Amino acid sequence: MAKRHPSFVCQECGAVYNRWKGKCEACGGWNTIVEETGSASPMSGPAATRPSRAKGRIFPLEGLSGEIKEAPRTPSGIAELDRVTGGGFVHGSIILLGGDPGIGKSTLLMQASAALANRGERVAYISGEEAVAQVRLRAERLGLGQAPVELASETNVEDIVATLSQGRTPALAIIDSIQTMWTETVESAPGTVTQVRGSAQALIRFAKTTGTAVILVGHVTKDGQIAGPRVVEHMVDAVVSFEGDTGHHFRILRAVKNRFGPTDEIGVFEMSDQGLREVPNPSELFLAGRDMATPGTAVFAGMEGTRPLLVEIQALVAPSSLGTPRRAVVGWDQSRLSMVLAVLEAHGGLKLGMHDVYLNVAGGLRITEPAADLAAAAALVSSLSGNPLPPDTVYFGEMGLSGAIRPVAQEQARMKEAAKLGFSSAVSPLPRLEKSSGAKSERLPLATSAIGHITDLVANIAARRRKVP
Ligand code: TYD
Ligand code: MG
Repeated sequence: MAKRHPSFVCQECGAVYNRWKGKCEACGGWNTIVEETGSASPMSGPAATRPSRAKGRIFPLEGLSGEIKEAPRTPSGIAELDRVTGGGFVHGSIILLGGDPGIGKSTLLMQASAALANRGERVAYISGEEAVAQVRLRAERLGLGQAPVELASETNVEDIVATLSQGRTPALAIIDSIQTMWTETVESAPGTVTQVRGSAQALIRFAKTTGTAVILVGHVTKDGQIAGPRVVEHMVDAVVSFEGDTGHHFRILRAVKNRFGPTDEIGVFEMSDQGLREVPNPSELFLAGRDMATPGTAVFAGMEGTRPLLVEIQALVAPSSLGTPRRAVVGWDQSRLSMVLAVLEAHGGLKLGMHDVYLNVAGGLRITEPAADLAAAAALVSSLSGNPLPPDTVYFGEMGLSGAIRPVAQEQARMKEAAKLGFSSAVSPLPRLEKSSGAKSERLPLATSAIGHITDLVANIAARRRKVP
């Protein structure tokens, strides 16, 4: 083996340098590089200690066709959580749950642990951050004090693995959090990237050999990165993030990566003093308290995975007193807003150069779908013109740079959800040209006003002024 040099490892992204630097070139972080002894190279695992063999072992190669086995799963019993994992915890899989401190990760996992334990599964909850009494207190407050969850406050990974390997194999083990864990196989200090990686490796090995599903909790830094555990993301089977606005009382669970299920599903929870409550119909929650008579609000009929979701998009366009007008957006993509504004100016005839523009997705939800373009544009035009939009109408459609409104997926599902919540019309893209003339078009659940170009939307909203006294 080559001579061991000290390595300098960025604590944010795990980049390795051979000398100290003030700024990490990989992630741009300042003062994140720390000297670590002990090897940080990928050769430090069991592969490095394996005696080298002159010849490789020959393994059978298989074809694409053949038997497919569904991965065995244990559902948690919390429907919103199971929706995100793809139907339950896959045996022997490892999940990284990321989120801001205080968002409710420990609460969610305590509820999941108790639900599983109450059904007779062995569940272990290992807290590296809180004492046993503190965890008990939380369980008590959640009304879960009687659940047969096995509890420990421990940070040494070897001890944890040895303890959990005794007796009946646990169905689920929670490690709260991975940043507090340390392993004897790595020399660097606890909390460093090398320790996090080494500890995760040991726990992954435990999961794969025993079939226990392991959940690692990871804290997220201010800029949304899972600090330290970011280097773990590629090692785990699923990365799930728990999001929410501290000012709002609901929380969203979102799969970022999932080897055993979908990545576009979200789970919605509402916070209460008895813990997290599931929200089976989130649209109602996101539309609650909607102000219908003021200009600048539009309801977007969106999709999150297979589930339709209605949210209110609010815009405020006001004359600016600044040389460079402000553009602020919450819950949506800043560059997407810039694009919509540019198209409205270039093709919609709007003059926005002297106006501040604010866009907000109500309720603290974050929208990633391009289908929200039309709803955002409608809210912006409504705010600028001072004409409120009809309160019983939903909007969806993607906007091209030419101002053309393009069709989006799952129009039926979006409209059905809107109809269910009492909406009666939709402003949507022109229907796609039917490929076969014989195809019978399905009856739409809402009255639609199809829009082919952004100019139609602007004209529609301007025309509303005359009807309003
Ligand atoms: P906690 O689960 O400890 O957050 P994390 O593990 O992500 O840091 O929750 C933070 C605090 O919020 C804790 O004091 C409990 C409280 N809380 C509630 O009262 N109700 C809830 O539904 C949730 C999720 C949290
Ligand atoms: Mg916690």
